[in-house]
Amino acid sequence: MLKVLITGAYGQLGCCIRDVAPLCKESITFVYTDFLELDITNYEKTNVYFKENEFDYCINCAAYTAVDKAEEEIDKAFSINAEGVKHLAESCLAYDVILIHVSTDFVFDGLKLGVYTEKDKPNPINTYGASKLKGEQYVQDMLDKYFIVRTSWVYSEYGQNFVKTMLRLSNERDEINVVSDQVGSPTYAGDLANFLVSLVFNKSKDFGLYHYSNLGEISWCEFAAEIFKQANNTSININSIKSKAYPTPAIRPKNSCMSKELTQQTFKLEIPYWTDSLSKVLVKLIGGTNLI
Ligand SMILES: NC(=O)c1ccc[n+]([C@@H]2O[C@H](COP(=O)([O-])OP(=O)(O)OC[C@H]3O[C@@H](n4cnc5c(N)ncnc54)[C@H](OP(=O)(O)O)[C@@H]3O)[C@@H](O)[C@H]2O)c1
Repeated sequence: MLKVLITGAYGQLGCCIRDVAPLCKESITFVYTDFLELDITNYEKTNVYFKENEFDYCINCAAYTAVDKAEEEIDKAFSINAEGVKHLAESCLAYDVILIHVSTDFVFDGLKLGVYTEKDKPNPINTYGASKLKGEQYVQDMLDKYFIVRTSWVYSEYGQNFVKTMLRLSNERDEINVVSDQVGSPTYAGDLANFLVSLVFNKSKDFGLYHYSNLGEISWCEFAAEIFKQANNTSININSIKSKAYPTPAIRPKNSCMSKELTQQTFKLEIPYWTDSLSKVLVKLIGGTNLI
């Protein structure tokens, strides 16, 4: 039986891993922790926790994800996304644990024409991206047995995310402004959870850096339009706006599109198309009745 530590287990991704877990209950035991049980910024406690538990894998879902707030809380963002990850890497090294770490499209500056591959040089343009890149670097410098999986535009039936915000706003407003000059790929956290757990289940030894999001590339404006279309909400009007008309504390990359080719080929993976995954989540959020 493999023993797997899930950190940040009450976040979107952690909750989705809990949903996937029963499928492999014969071969994997999951231990769920969040901030209260295991604060990854506390080196001593992290080390002791690893020492006492004899994990085979750690899937790190713990992160500071408040992209705009990170511009004010720089130390906190780095403490969790960089130093916290370093503590996990140190414990993984000490107790021979395979680390599966989740990172972000925000490590890129978004200036590339075309999709980003794993070979492209990161160049973050905000604090969140810089803190996540530092976390990646610690893992790569310290470990041989790791997976770093960069993902983008994560949503799910849990927590706060773009899909849930759009559904809420559609009940409150007649029109909404959404940016159309930032493009990327949405990721259903449930699909990502399936992929991460499959790395454990299949005992993959293809360690390294990979990209994972749903297939298809769109703007936030197109994402909003599809949410309203699938939710059969015809009363809300979407105004497509440019990023400069919606200034935010953190600058966002214009292009967040990442190639999934390496991931698909290495793991013989069929990644769901974004509109199909969106349908699955909308059924969970609003049931089947409103959906077209
Ligand atoms: N959300 C996105 O759009 C997005 C995009 C690209 C990449 N990612 C990456 O995907 C991963 C999962 O994201 P997510 O959306 O599931 O994030 P999330 O919902 O914000 O979950 C993160 C979890 O980590 C916990 N946490 C924070 N500080 C911690 C600490 N010191 N020790 C232990 N746990 C701590 C949080 O607890 P509190 O809630 O109490 O703080 C939360 O439960 C992250 O690595 C993130 O950077 C996310």
